Amino acid sequence: MPVITNIEDLKRIYKRRVPQMFYDYCESGSWTEQTFRENSSDYDQIRLRQRVAVDMTGRSTKTQMIGHDVAMPVALAPVGLTGMQHADGEMKAARAAEKFGVPFTLSTMSINSIEDVAGFTDAPFWFQLYTMKDEDFVSRLIQRAKDANCSALVITLDLQILGQRHKDIKNGLSAPPKLTPKTLANLATKWGWGIEMLSAKRREFGNIVGHVKGVSDMSQLGAWTAEQFDPSLDWNKIAKLKEQWDGKVILKGILDAEDAKMALKVGADAIIVSNHGGRQLDGALSSIRMLPSILDAVGDQVEVHIDGGIRSGQDVLKAVAMGAKGTYIGRAFIYGLGAMGQQGVTETLNVIQKELDTTMALCGETSVEDLGRHNLLVPEDFEGRWRQ
Ligand SMILES: Cc1cc2nc3c(=O)[nH]c(=O)nc-3n(C[C@H](O)[C@H](O)[C@H](O)COP(=O)(O)O)c2cc1C
Repeated sequence: MPVITNIEDLKRIYKRRVPQMFYDYCESGSWTEQTFRENSSDYDQIRLRQRVAVDMTGRSTKTQMIGHDVAMPVALAPVGLTGMQHADGEMKAARAAEKFGVPFTLSTMSINSIEDVAGFTDAPFWFQLYTMKDEDFVSRLIQRAKDANCSALVITLDLQILGQRHKDIKNGLSAPPKLTPKTLANLATKWGWGIEMLSAKRREFGNIVGHVKGVSDMSQLGAWTAEQFDPSLDWNKIAKLKEQWDGKVILKGILDAEDAKMALKVGADAIIVSNHGGRQLDGALSSIRMLPSILDAVGDQVEVHIDGGIRSGQDVLKAVAMGAKGTYIGRAFIYGLGAMGQQGVTETLNVIQKELDTTMALCGETSVEDLGRHNLLVPEDFEGRWRQ
């Protein structure tokens, strides 16, 4: 077992182990990837205030997200095709999250189905909904998530149409991979992945195949998803979905104070400041840079969470000290999962918690709940360099 000391270690192993097309799918942003890069690099601009001679005993990273106890303010973000990064990927990541005590969010576009994950875990997980034109299908998805005892519905708002990632088109991304000469040559070097995948419970989109009339195989599914995402999604529809769910709702993909105010109006329990990990609108500002204006607009009325670019416990600390009540990791847990399955996700969470705890201590704090702007040094123009 290699010694893992940071998330980069897991990423290196992940890259060696997983077929190129799925590595590229994870490790890309849309178009020039500016937003994807800045999501991470903007964290580097925020610095920390070192404090000394503070009693650092009895530290705790525990807090709550939407009223749920969490071991640290970090949830696993919804990531499509997770079951292609590692056999039974969603089931394994969910179990790692459950054991660690952080929320797991299952994507609509997962490989394992809602029922697979519910059958493999005890703790309730969160379900992420993409709204589709087929309203019957959406209603049934919501009902399935309720039946599986999911404790929050995360509605993603920033993917009414799909941003373009060049590599996915060039690689002919599909689940399972189509066996072209190029893919076969690459798969031949990924035998560990391939052997495990042979015994995977599923290799197709588990929430969809078999649940939509007329879709029984992948070729039909491709056509169905391409035309199914709902470009007409608006705040009225979001309000209706909230009513239908009748439980905690988190709105994901808010990157503007005006939209945050609309989210408040429809009664969201939390919002996630997010640009989909830089996979949708390239050229948008990073999530961490947009966070302060959103907090100013709605921070005292709704729980504000954030994702995008978080690769360490220091990033988590910076986001929380800026005012986010919770954070989500996407790629950071996929690196762990692809590298070593469930244990890799646990490694990701361990690394992040250790970094968070040590940083907290060296900043002179003993509880994540006490973190605030007083722990940070932020460039004067961090929030205001861009004007409308
Ligand atoms: C490979 C990949 C697939 C994703 N699939 C989904 C998805 O199905 N639903 C969704 O709401 N967000 C999806 N996202 C966005 C994540 O939920 C999250 O917003 C993003 O990964 C956060 O950025 P980070 O990866 O830098 O942590 C995906 C992200 C990645 C990297």
